Amino acid sequence: GARGLVDPFGRHVTYLRVSVTDRCDLRCVYCMAEDMTFLPKRDLLTLEELDRLCSAFIDRGVRKLRLTGGEPLVRRDVMRLVGSLSRHLVSGALQELTLTTNGTLLGRYADELAGHGVRRINVSLDSLDPARFKAITRRGDLAQVLRGIEAARRAGIKVKINTVALLGVNEDEIAPMLEWAHGEGMDLTLIEVMPMGEIEPGRLDQYLPLSVVRDRLAERFTLTPLSERTGGPARYVRVEQTGGKLGFITPLTHNFCESCNRVRLTCTGQLYLCLGQEDAADLRAPLRASEADDRLRAAIDEAITRKPRGHDFVIDRDHTAPAVPRHMSVTGG
Ligand code: GTP
Ligand code: 5AD
Ligand code: SF4
Repeated sequence: GARGLVDPFGRHVTYLRVSVTDRCDLRCVYCMAEDMTFLPKRDLLTLEELDRLCSAFIDRGVRKLRLTGGEPLVRRDVMRLVGSLSRHLVSGALQELTLTTNGTLLGRYADELAGHGVRRINVSLDSLDPARFKAITRRGDLAQVLRGIEAARRAGIKVKINTVALLGVNEDEIAPMLEWAHGEGMDLTLIEVMPMGEIEPGRLDQYLPLSVVRDRLAERFTLTPLSERTGGPARYVRVEQTGGKLGFITPLTHNFCESCNRVRLTCTGQLYLCLGQEDAADLRAPLRASEADDRLRAAIDEAITRKPRGHDFVIDRDHTAPAVPRHMSVTGG
């Protein structure tokens, strides 16, 4: 209908997350298995098809678009997609075009991203210790990521750091990360690890509730709750000692699904209605069925009627299997 995309619970879907590839140049231990089987390239939608899909969502009321992966910057020619989508920023139909990246390729792409109107990006970074960073990502080079972040900032892009809080892995670094990020003028968002995808055992043991982290930080810092939001699930506080913002993404300790405004498109044209549920709608068939977008728009509207109330992630000793078998890298979080 003319009101845009509204789900059965009255939530307006204005935020589309698009996974442009399931591949990644890193293998973060909580995200991927060491040895992953990726989609054959022939199964990927073309960049033109992804553009058409995104444009149909914008036509139906999406205002914020985030490219994810895997790692979005490893998709060949991804700048062509960013460049073509930027026309929706110019027209005013789209308010924000952004991405979530591991930062390894920002050195190469920062200037082009800025040139296409990307104002703000989120960079995943779980440690500032080179050896530990290597251990978490299995193959990352911390210095390269830090150079990438620097390149983005020099290009005028605002960088927010995303850190997954991991018990016994980086919990001792959370305060130092906060001081570093805020000292550099970047906001930091902490994330609770979610039980997605078959990976080696251990993630269950690495779960660290952010309620605990927050209490610990509150012993050293004054945290003033803020009402402002970025359109994502994070709740923010201002850290009075640093002047920076600190976000908390708490799918486990505080469910935020009642304010969900987002859906997720994969690089094969599947639309996931919730990160924590397996139900997905195929948009590739209606996309390819005709050059006109009517069927595609109808399929999008139909899919939104299937958006569930929320996820049911739990982490405890009785739930050793992942809540959803799909890997995070299918939808990029
Ligand atoms: P901002 O625009 O800066 O608010 O970003 P964002 O939080 O929307 O996006 P980002 O890609 O930085 O996401 C950070 C983390 O939040 C990722 O690990 C996502 O998996 C998680 N996340 C985002 N949306 C949802 C959601 O709807 N449900 C759950 N459970 N996690 C989410
Ligand atoms: N739980 C929480 N966050 C995860 N990410 C990847 N896998 C998980 C998981 N199982 C994060 C990455 C990145 C974002 C896209 O998702 O660190 O910040
Ligand atoms: Fe790659 Fe991001 Fe997954 Fe790490 S968390 S393996 S950087 S997709």
